[in-house]
Amino acid sequence: MPFAPTNILMNKKTLHFPAGFFWGSATSAHQVEGGNVNDWSEWEKGNSERLAREAKNYWQDWQKAKFPEMFNPRNYISGKACDHYNRYEEDFELAKSLNHNAHRFSIEWSRIEPEEGKFNEKEIGHYRDVIKSLREKNLEPFITLWHWTNPLWLAKIGGPENKKFAYYFGRYAKFVAEQLGDSVNFWITVNEPTSVIANSYARGIWPPQRKSFLSALKVYKNLAAAHNSAFDAIHTISKANVGFANLLTFYEPYDKNSILDKAALKVAEYFGNKKFLNLTKNKNDFLAAQYYFHHRIKFPFKNKNENKALTDMGWEIYPRGIYHILKELKKFNLPIYITENGLADAEDSRREKFIKEHLYWVHKAIREGADVRGYFYWSLLDNFEWDKGFWPRFGLVEIDYETLERKIRPSARAYAEICGNNYIKM
Ligand code: FCB
Repeated sequence: MPFAPTNILMNKKTLHFPAGFFWGSATSAHQVEGGNVNDWSEWEKGNSERLAREAKNYWQDWQKAKFPEMFNPRNYISGKACDHYNRYEEDFELAKSLNHNAHRFSIEWSRIEPEEGKFNEKEIGHYRDVIKSLREKNLEPFITLWHWTNPLWLAKIGGPENKKFAYYFGRYAKFVAEQLGDSVNFWITVNEPTSVIANSYARGIWPPQRKSFLSALKVYKNLAAAHNSAFDAIHTISKANVGFANLLTFYEPYDKNSILDKAALKVAEYFGNKKFLNLTKNKNDFLAAQYYFHHRIKFPFKNKNENKALTDMGWEIYPRGIYHILKELKKFNLPIYITENGLADAEDSRREKFIKEHLYWVHKAIREGADVRGYFYWSLLDNFEWDKGFWPRFGLVEIDYETLERKIRPSARAYAEICGNNYIKM
């Protein structure tokens, strides 16, 4: 659907989005499917006790009091997760009932290529059924090829640190696109490369817990090469749109008059927001923006946020930031999709306001020329939040992890109204 600013009617209270806007939510395979065998599932087994122990020193008192599950090692084992692998039909019915017209999910590489070079037809068949189920419900699929997990054979030889990573990833992407490409218009190659670079290779807190600047730089290069190679591979067989999901942080200097704060900001902005885009220049059909963070940088790299409102994870809620990152993307003259934005809010007391306020700022960016064509709330379901486990509740739909019962949260209904109307009322 072409971008048509004239479609955006505006009066004081009702803000319309462009015709054909994609409204939906996002998930990723490892976080919802259950039953995965990959580098993360292995790492969880070896680290769950430690993570449960360390929670005592990591979280604030209010978080510890509210979420005692964090002290249970079981919290850190993805296990059956939401059993979405078997219940996707039911979950997509929910998304449809909530007026979504698009859905983002990821394909699990370790299922498709459990052994090097051996592709599993049955698992491809599974994802073919997943796409069919979405299409039957008029949900446009946005498909991520790599949402952080690696097949074990690949992890063993260094995962994204291996210089052949781009070759392996390109081959996998080509296979998947050949098998499923006729029904897919949007591919997202890699999810948030900078999150992995920072957490797995610089801070050393995620698998494989490397703590090396050199490794981090290597992975930067290899993941960008992987994106580029998948971009080319997909385009040899299909006209689909290809992009990567970029975590974009809104940076400000703590002190606007401090040269040091401003210099530190430039460095953070370069490595955080810009470098991967530079390395994949001319190989993006669209930009996929993911917004969670605002950082007021105090030299050297401290975040001094005001933190007036927080999520359950202690992340600052700062809706205006999404406007700035979208304005920054405008210069690329490419369509923009917001492929993630959301919060952990177990009580569901802040989610509706969070969504509306972010959308208010998205709308302002659109009015000022940013070609935003879709918004995907993170996440459709509560799910496995990586090294933090199951206690953070991001879902529009609540999961009871004992019974796996799904329950629509009130905020999901408020978002459904927006999706159905294609406007927000402020
Ligand atoms: C993003 C990840 C996603 C989820 C959200 C909360 O950085 O892409 O998998 O963990 O954060």
